Amino acid sequence: MNKGSFYIETYGCQMNVSDSEVVVSILVSNGYKKVSDIEQSDIILLNTCSIRDKAEQTLLNRLDMVKHIKKRGSVIGILGCMAERLKDKLLEIDCINFVVGPDGYKSLPDIINKAFEGNKSVDVKLSTDEAYNDVIPQYGSGVSAFISITRGCNNVCSYCVVPFTRGRERSKSVKAILREVDCVIERGFKEITLLGQNVNSYRFDDGTTSCNFAQLLDIIANRVPDIRIRFLSSHPKDINEELLNTIKNHKNICKNIQLPFQSGSNHILKLMNRPYTNEMYKEKINMIWDILGKDCSLVTDIMTGFCDETEEDHQDTLRLMEYVKFDYAFTFAYSERSGTCSANTMCDNVPHDVKIRRLTEIINLQQTHSLYRYSQCVGKIVDVLVEGPSKRSELEWQGRADDNKVVVFNNSEKLIHEGDYVKINVNDNTSATLMGEFINTTE
Ligand code: SAH
Ligand code: SF4
Ligand code: F3S
Repeated sequence: MNKGSFYIETYGCQMNVSDSEVVVSILVSNGYKKVSDIEQSDIILLNTCSIRDKAEQTLLNRLDMVKHIKKRGSVIGILGCMAERLKDKLLEIDCINFVVGPDGYKSLPDIINKAFEGNKSVDVKLSTDEAYNDVIPQYGSGVSAFISITRGCNNVCSYCVVPFTRGRERSKSVKAILREVDCVIERGFKEITLLGQNVNSYRFDDGTTSCNFAQLLDIIANRVPDIRIRFLSSHPKDINEELLNTIKNHKNICKNIQLPFQSGSNHILKLMNRPYTNEMYKEKINMIWDILGKDCSLVTDIMTGFCDETEEDHQDTLRLMEYVKFDYAFTFAYSERSGTCSANTMCDNVPHDVKIRRLTEIINLQQTHSLYRYSQCVGKIVDVLVEGPSKRSELEWQGRADDNKVVVFNNSEKLIHEGDYVKINVNDNTSATLMGEFINTTE
């Protein structure tokens, strides 16, 4: 039975992308048809992000545009973190017909029916156990699939909305994860990325089986030895020898760790309520280098301009960057979010221009470190999972090395296809790309 068509747009992190795949699966199995033309769809869904004020402003601007281009009679629903944060306040916006938070997606078919009957509704209940164990997401295109293994977050970093928008941390059952792994392989994907706000805090325990993240990785790596496995993001508190040895012991687990440090200053880390110090973070990095070697690529998140951050605190951040020389960093200026601990009890007292200046210094330093890390790959042969033509030319193709670096190579003879694993001899680099020659191992 065809109940109408829907269109979905996704903002925010990979968890949200993965959630949209859950939403698509729920709607398709309830008789709705997914379309890619917003102007023709009966139901318009915006899966939103609240992490910084700018994310919410972008969405509100987009909504203004959407209400003008939508066809008559279609309904608009707001999903995701902004739905959860702003709740029924969003319904005051005329064009919005329903608001559903991250744990309410199974109620979408009912809520959509009500919307067509002219009733506005909200489902923003957070659950302590909804992990969508029984939904096989409608995975996106490409060679790589996301599998969310945890939802929510049990940390209370003082600046962060995620605990409010996604609720308590819960882990998917091992059985449900393995069912997804099998499904992903059956559909021809060549790489799996395991996702969680703190993916390495995964712990499943139902009284009969118990499994931590290292054990889960081991099980998956053994089950699909020809498939690459990635995971993000990791919390420094849950990096340990067991996990690193598991990564070391499996060729198909990528040596690439995203380990946010946020600030290099102990005083700021404390205000942020991050449960580690600069020294403890460095110890974790040393442990990674000892077990996985200096080739393990390291990515981080850095936030600048948090409450009371001094020039000396900022220098601590730059010094920590200098110590690690990350391959890449996601960098942000602090954005106060109402309802969080820092908004309630601290003062957003670093002036905007100072935040921007510090952010620019961080970005510039990171640029030199990326350039250094990428240049270290020149002269090496890397295994690349091929994604397709590069943005610049049909003759130049691109893929990713084990450590997640983008590698561009000539494919004018069309010997290489999407999803192939190939060996590339790296001969040049920028701070964001490796360039190289295909080594034809069958010749
Ligand atoms: N769960 C992950 C990160 C989730 S949010 C972790 O803790 O590692 C992604 C990044 O957004 C964070 O690492 C942080 O750097 C940034 N961020 C979160 N809240 C923010 C805020 N209020 N202002 C600016 N950046 C923020
Ligand atoms: Fe937010 Fe901290 Fe949880 Fe990450 S660990 S999602 S920054 S509260
Ligand atoms: Fe944004 Fe929610 Fe992800 S706030 S970053 S979409 S968890």
